Amino acid sequence: MAPPLLSKDTADIEALLALNPRVNHLAKVVPSYETKMNKHNWKRNAGKNCESCSPDLANDFRDIKHTTLSERGALREALRCLKCADAPCQKSCPTQLDVKAFITSISNKNYYGAARQILSDNPLGLTCGMVCPTSDLCVGSCNLHASEEGAINIAGLQQFACEVFKKMNVRQIVSREVRQTRNESHRCGPASISCASFLARLGYTDITIYEKQQYVGGLSSSEIPQFRLPYSAVDFEIQLARDIGVKIETGRALHKSDITLEKLKVSGVKAVFIGIGMPEPKRIPIFDGLTENHGFYTSKDFLPKVAAASKIGLCGCSGTPLPSLKGRVLVLGAGDTAFDCATSALRCGAKRVIVVFRKGITGIRAVPEEMELAREEKCEFMPFCAPRAVNVKDGKIVSMQFVKTDQDSDGKWYEDEEQTITVKADYIISAFGSALLDPEVVYAMSPLKLIKWGIPEVDSSTQATSEPWVFAGGDIAGVAETTVESVNDGKVYSLRYTFVDISVEMCGVKFEHPFGLASAPPTTSGPMCRRAFEQGWSFILTKTFGLDKDRITNVSPRIVRGSTSGPIYGPNQGSFLNIELISEKSAAYWLSCIRELKQDFPEKVVVASIMCTFDKDDWTLLSKQCEDAGADFLELNLSCPHGMGEKGMGLACGQDPEIVRAICTWIKEAVKIPFFPKMSPNITDIRMIARAAKSGGANGVTATNTLSGLMHLRAEGTAWPSVGEEKKTTYGGVSGSAIRPIALRAVAAIANDLKGFPIMATGGIESAETGLAFLNVGASVLQVTNILKHVVCGGLELAITLSGD
Ligand SMILES: Cc1cc2nc3c(=O)[nH]c(=O)nc-3n(C[C@H](O)[C@H](O)[C@H](O)COP(=O)(O)OP(=O)(O)OC[C@H]3O[C@@H](n4cnc5c(N)ncnc54)[C@H](O)[C@@H]3O)c2cc1C
Ligand SMILES: Cc1cc2nc3c(=O)[nH]c(=O)nc-3n(C[C@H](O)[C@H](O)[C@H](O)COP(=O)(O)O)c2cc1C
Ligand code: SF4
Repeated sequence: MAPPLLSKDTADIEALLALNPRVNHLAKVVPSYETKMNKHNWKRNAGKNCESCSPDLANDFRDIKHTTLSERGALREALRCLKCADAPCQKSCPTQLDVKAFITSISNKNYYGAARQILSDNPLGLTCGMVCPTSDLCVGSCNLHASEEGAINIAGLQQFACEVFKKMNVRQIVSREVRQTRNESHRCGPASISCASFLARLGYTDITIYEKQQYVGGLSSSEIPQFRLPYSAVDFEIQLARDIGVKIETGRALHKSDITLEKLKVSGVKAVFIGIGMPEPKRIPIFDGLTENHGFYTSKDFLPKVAAASKIGLCGCSGTPLPSLKGRVLVLGAGDTAFDCATSALRCGAKRVIVVFRKGITGIRAVPEEMELAREEKCEFMPFCAPRAVNVKDGKIVSMQFVKTDQDSDGKWYEDEEQTITVKADYIISAFGSALLDPEVVYAMSPLKLIKWGIPEVDSSTQATSEPWVFAGGDIAGVAETTVESVNDGKVYSLRYTFVDISVEMCGVKFEHPFGLASAPPTTSGPMCRRAFEQGWSFILTKTFGLDKDRITNVSPRIVRGSTSGPIYGPNQGSFLNIELISEKSAAYWLSCIRELKQDFPEKVVVASIMCTFDKDDWTLLSKQCEDAGADFLELNLSCPHGMGEKGMGLACGQDPEIVRAICTWIKEAVKIPFFPKMSPNITDIRMIARAAKSGGANGVTATNTLSGLMHLRAEGTAWPSVGEEKKTTYGGVSGSAIRPIALRAVAAIANDLKGFPIMATGGIESAETGLAFLNVGASVLQVTNILKHVVCGGLELAITLSGD
């Protein structure tokens, strides 16, 4: 053997290098015939002209959704979302999901937060992530619709977040504070599960779902096929409802022979929500007498059989065989149901499936994503055909006759009896929609006022029927046609028309709910306070103001993010530091604003936040002026930790119990409205100051103001942030989530020391959940500044508190 050449690599290295792109010095010449043959060795998709290549799908129920995402795919997609200010995606979601918020959570890898956001607004968030016709909803409105990469795959992101959450095995719980008793009765489809879940979250403890089948989930379980919606997803959502006390009785029907509205009323049920869907198939006379033995199914016979055989866990009936189809199957109809029948038929052994419908391809009612799945699986479409007769030979279907349909010059559809067509068929599945036909069920709904086909008359904005204690939603109520719309009917009824009083009373004044805005930048001006009321806040504190003789000028910059928070604003923002002084606006300005606000919002509570030097006349004058202007409360700012102290105001007064007591005594003499000194956390024992306030006649205290801090120094030793050419600063006030434990401790300490003494809490309240923590330790109402975007007014109503078991 010749010795190896030193100037040439070994064969294995040469082979590797051959994989790299090379400069071709000569054109390659291969006859097309050869390439046509060769390409079959490489192609991954079916050949263009290949009719025999339809995939063998028999018994294959694996996920076929295009939207399903891996974690990597989900992160990439979430980063692509623009988080648009107008977020039209949310406006098209029937349940008003905050799409950009949950996508933001996904991009921060906060999958729990994303799922929580989704499930808070839609208890069937996983199901909807899998089956929502999003091209007609959120995705259809996405601002990226016309971009190169297209609209955001919102359904896929929703499915991803909820699936991760499902694996976390976190159970749903309800806060003890909101429990109340009222028995309700429902049926177990999406509308009813949603309704029952929201009612349970609101604290109702006696909610029963009566389901006529032995399994639960409605059409999600019984008809939507496993390859689009696995039973495990439905089961997970039902379990969440069960976690919070929803009871489910299967084998119980709204029927003359079982449950009727009259019987429920006599038994003391306070309210009923009917969500029985449309249980029976619509049939046309040419199918009379045809049965499964002939090869005829309606969608409502066929799909539940497919589900029972393919959905693991559904009704425990493992071993149920799939309907056995062979040869050619005609599916009649052009809605989503028809396409589910078509793709299911392939999995039951059909060799060819033809979907036949009256109108043209452009008139297909099914959403494009459903139709596309059937097309990809090589189902054929036959438009412009109206059924005429079914031909049966030896007890089996052999063919079906149709006439052609057409449109006249006015666009009106007609059937042309002269154009007939006969199509060979071994099986026919009709998917002509559904109705409520059983007279015994209609009887059981007496005394409801009914409209056509035994359907109750339902007010589409309240879900109310003609009986004040009976409501209806989902397919039976006339507006909903999809799962998500059915879910929303249940939500609308339970949240909008089940009144849950979360108002609180403090010092004899009623607050619509405990959330208000603290004295800070969000209440810098009268118009900002007005907007806060318009947005639903129950009370506002004016930005602190003083007498004109004490007016100040603010410097800039005066608010910065906390240096311990990382570079990101928003959800990761842990703290702020400010050196903002009190309002630059005059007392006259604020007094006018208070007057106007009270006139336009008499139900809302206005608290005037005021500050003076340690001078009886000043405090007396300003507090009287506020009372005259109509303020409901006064808050005495005795705690501003910076700037004002040099003038003998703010913290300079609030750290000394004797000064606090004296100021309170002056105010008590001057006004009749309740007043609350605002406590500083910059004190060894906050209880001493609260006791002094109480003994001076204060009606309560606010706890706490910001914590004194020095945020940062640059490497060269100058302050950050610094003001002016001289780069000066002062100690500032630290606020935000970082100070919450300190504020919570302060509220707890005061509440334990002075039992029943009202407390307005402030300091790191950023959500319904963190607000609840303050209420639990003794706060009466909650002031918010920090992360306004995380707080939803009425969040307490929706507070599903999820915690690991
Ligand atoms: C084949 C098919 C595919 C679909 N695909 C989609 C889709 O991809 N995306 C989408 O958004 N929507 C889809 N839909 C529509 C969606 O499933 C329905 O809009 C939704 O399920 C309606 O919910 P519901 O709660 O009103 O009723 P249902 O889901 O019909 O639930 C009603 C429940 O009440 C029970 N019930 C009925 N009668 C009685 C009685 N007398 N007493 C006690 N219980 C009773 C039933 O057993 C059932 O459990 C599809 C529908 C079908 C048929
Ligand atoms: C920029 C800024 C200005 C503030 N100005 C006032 C004020 O004028 N009067 C006052 O009583 N509190 C003022 N505060 C304190 C807030 O009212 C609130 O008590 C504090 O920020 C803690 O709440 P948070 O953690 O929700 O921000 C101010 C806070 C900030 C951040
Ligand atoms: S419209 Fe599209 S890009 Fe904008 S927030 Fe919604 S999903 Fe994101």
